[in-house]
Amino acid sequence: MKKLVIAGPTPLRGEVSISGAKNAAVAILPATLLINGVCRIENLPNISDVSLYCDILQALGAKITWHNKNEITIDTRNINCNADIIEITRKFRASYYLIGSLLGRCGSVRVGLPGGCKLGARPIDLHIKGFESLGATTTISQGNIHATAKKLVGTSIYLDIASVGATINIMLASVLAEGTTIIDNAAKEPHIVDVANFLNTMGADIRGAGTDMIKIHGVKELKGDATYSIVPDQIEAGTFMLAAVASRGDIIIKNCISKHLESITAKLIEIGANVEEYGDSLRVWCNQRPSKAVIKTLPYPGFPTDLQPQMGVVLATADGTSIINEGIWESRFQYTAELNKMGANIMDQGKSAVFDGVESLVGAPVYSTDLRAGAALIIAGISAHGITEVYNLEHIDRGYENIEEKFNSIGANIKRVLED
Ligand code: UD1
Repeated sequence: MKKLVIAGPTPLRGEVSISGAKNAAVAILPATLLINGVCRIENLPNISDVSLYCDILQALGAKITWHNKNEITIDTRNINCNADIIEITRKFRASYYLIGSLLGRCGSVRVGLPGGCKLGARPIDLHIKGFESLGATTTISQGNIHATAKKLVGTSIYLDIASVGATINIMLASVLAEGTTIIDNAAKEPHIVDVANFLNTMGADIRGAGTDMIKIHGVKELKGDATYSIVPDQIEAGTFMLAAVASRGDIIIKNCISKHLESITAKLIEIGANVEEYGDSLRVWCNQRPSKAVIKTLPYPGFPTDLQPQMGVVLATADGTSIINEGIWESRFQYTAELNKMGANIMDQGKSAVFDGVESLVGAPVYSTDLRAGAALIIAGISAHGITEVYNLEHIDRGYENIEEKFNSIGANIKRVLED
């Protein structure tokens, strides 16, 4: 079993560079299936979710050339629409984007129903409602979803919840549909804009991404023959911002878009930390115990749920009692039991948690329950006194490129160890 052994506390100091966005990458890779041609993707994060997606694309007949660990060329001219991808797609949640892209490309798709982080119920009813509005028929049986469409025809779709996944999936399904599709109450996350920009670069006609109304004018074909660079990862950048504050450090975060991080910047300033924005980089520092806060996670541009556990580590040692309300997922406070093993005083109340700030944390063996919980436990280990061992690294490796190397380059002391 692999674990990270972290010796703390080490205030983080220096410069760190952010990778391409995981959540954009896992949508752009299936989007390449809509192209009848070749495209080059740069700033691709080197993470296990990306390797898995590349395996799926290859199973479907795509030819992938790796230029280096962050740049690939994908040739999707010869796709085998009948390839069996059920088992491989069951391995992670973002495989649901294959439904939208293969409906568009092949008119038929069968995938295993998604796995992914255990954050509570993760329905895909809104995705299905979107596909069916476009003219598809869907059936779910034996843990698989089968969708078919003789023809997809543009229509207006109102999303009851501004779902990131449903917005992207419906966008994928409608790029090659006949006529115009309107997605109303669309999600506005930066990676939705990135997927739209990618598709437009390859020949699609998508307008309004980043607002709550997206219009997709169907085109006959995407020819590709272009290069696209993935947007910097907003959540990775936010993770380092929160690590700087939790460790009472002073770091410069390079290759990030400060506009995407405004909700985090505002909260950090409110609790007494310092943030300076320089366009594509940020300096974050904090040399005293932050003050308490009340936080509610919301869709973008609100405070992101994917930074909630990392913020929880900051509040675990804040001065006073803080409250976090989780506005997106049912079950996202499992990490608090792990932080309590490190001396935190947090009460998990289901959709909210109360953080009674303690002076400092103490190292302990802890288990990551999902990707962002894993990142939070690393930050806790860097900030805590003594040795922290973080287990279940497969969650963390899904979504963070070279995480221990990056933290070690700014002063952390983290070793990856294979335990007997
Ligand atoms: C995406 C992100 C995930 C992030 C989440 C919220 C990716 C690959 N993952 O997940 O990291 O935590 O956005 O920012 O981009 N819902 C329904 N029916 C649906 C779809 C969603 O009820 O058909 C509900 C969900 O249960 C949840 C809310 O809508 O309560 C938001 O989910 P959604 O935005 O779809 O999250 P994901 O796209 O799965």
